[in-house]
Amino acid sequence: MVCLGNICRSPLAEGVMQHLAKENNLNWQVDSAGTGDWHVGQGPDRRSTNTARKHGIDISGQVCRLFRISDFDVFDVIFVMDRNNLSDILAMARHEADTGKVKLLLGDKIVPDPYFDDAQFEPVFKMIEEGCREIIKSLI
Ligand code: 4NP
Repeated sequence: MVCLGNICRSPLAEGVMQHLAKENNLNWQVDSAGTGDWHVGQGPDRRSTNTARKHGIDISGQVCRLFRISDFDVFDVIFVMDRNNLSDILAMARHEADTGKVKLLLGDKIVPDPYFDDAQFEPVFKMIEEGCREIIKSLI
């Protein structure tokens, strides 16, 4: 799960997907990362942690990191939140096999950046949850 800062959207996506995978008895490795390095080493934004907690998901133990080339080798799919993330990650792809792994989490829609608007965290959670449910439905 990849976004810009790896403190708002992708930590939620990591937490939600891990939660749903467990619920569906799927032994998936789910992680998240950012394309920007401002918050590396920090925990998620408190607004994301609180929103996740409201829905019974604890993301407080996550630590922000940068996306790295080796993620293309470790993961089968790289889900990104918006089109800037998409172009940033595609720019790091080494070959078509990498490129083919990169998808928008919501298929053809974006998960908007809630960083500057507290009111967006709940709707963003809902979008991410719906997207993750759709992905699980399509893959199992
Ligand atoms: P995220 O949100 O990409 O959903 O984690 C952001 C977090 C931090 C910044 C931008 C977006 N920032 O500019 O620090």
